Amino acid sequence: KRKMILDLDTGVDDALAIAYALADPEVDLIGIVSSYGNNLLDVCAENSLKLLELLGHTDIPVFKGLPHSCTTDHFDVMQVSKDIHGNNGIGEVQLPAPSRSIEEESGVDFYIDAAHKYGKDLIIIPTGPMTNLAAALKKAPEIAHLIGNVTFMGGALTVEGNVTPVAEANINQDPKAANKVLTSDLPLTMVGLDVTLRTLLTKKETQQWRDLGTKAGKAYADITDFYIDAYYNLDIDKNGCAIHDPLAVGVGIDPSFVTTLSLFVKCVYEEGPYYARIIGDNSKLNDPNPNVKVAINVDKERYLKVFMDHLTNLFKE
Ligand code: BDR
Ligand code: CA
Repeated sequence: KRKMILDLDTGVDDALAIAYALADPEVDLIGIVSSYGNNLLDVCAENSLKLLELLGHTDIPVFKGLPHSCTTDHFDVMQVSKDIHGNNGIGEVQLPAPSRSIEEESGVDFYIDAAHKYGKDLIIIPTGPMTNLAAALKKAPEIAHLIGNVTFMGGALTVEGNVTPVAEANINQDPKAANKVLTSDLPLTMVGLDVTLRTLLTKKETQQWRDLGTKAGKAYADITDFYIDAYYNLDIDKNGCAIHDPLAVGVGIDPSFVTTLSLFVKCVYEEGPYYARIIGDNSKLNDPNPNVKVAINVDKERYLKVFMDHLTNLFKE
């Protein structure tokens, strides 16, 4: 089995990413690195611990990441995150306090150790800002050549951003870190709004989880319904919520869910109208070995079927 690390700013769709990774028989989730974004770092880390406990997986370690961007020197939870993910990041659903704490080892060191230990068998899925991964690359540049794949949720190449016309939320938090990762030698797959806005979940599906009659099924249905309501009320999408983060997990395991375009991309981190835009790097137009596969289309029927099968099976237990 391949090894997977999730790097999460645990809000609603990150919660769905945890469930997908736990349910997939092809990967072994070896740890979660915490980030900030949908909420403060500590809240996001605690959400991961609570969700793992709900799902019966207190065996999976949660590591502390960096509390704010390397592009700016502070982090405030944006009102918009709270409107979409709730004040606690998980749709105002109250889960019991976790019975354990996060690890002593930092997420950055965990990345470096895992890269050396598992090499090409390691898949990393960042679904928040890429601050931790950029810090690991800075501390141990050799990991770029060791790791099997990094499939991140972030950016928008063929569609508009969700923060500004050119910026997606995860990348907008730390465009400098994104650029460090994008211009490294890591094998990368970008799962951006180009594809995630097409995979929508509705209350018809969450009701199936509730109908299972289990604690996990009910909690996940309530958490996700908050997010579906937010999408409706804020007029983001009236047809359901985008399941951004679990799509990155799915693609990390099975890249055939998406069609990709191989490109050299960079991220703009200078202040101005293009701040946090991911765009092709003109200086590398004739370079024959692009390092980023950008997902531009998705087999959403097949993906949603696997997503529902996975989560339903997990919540049944
Ligand atoms: C991304 O931003 C966060 O709010 C979500 O969890 C997702 O990772 C979507 O732009
Ligand atoms: Ca996220």
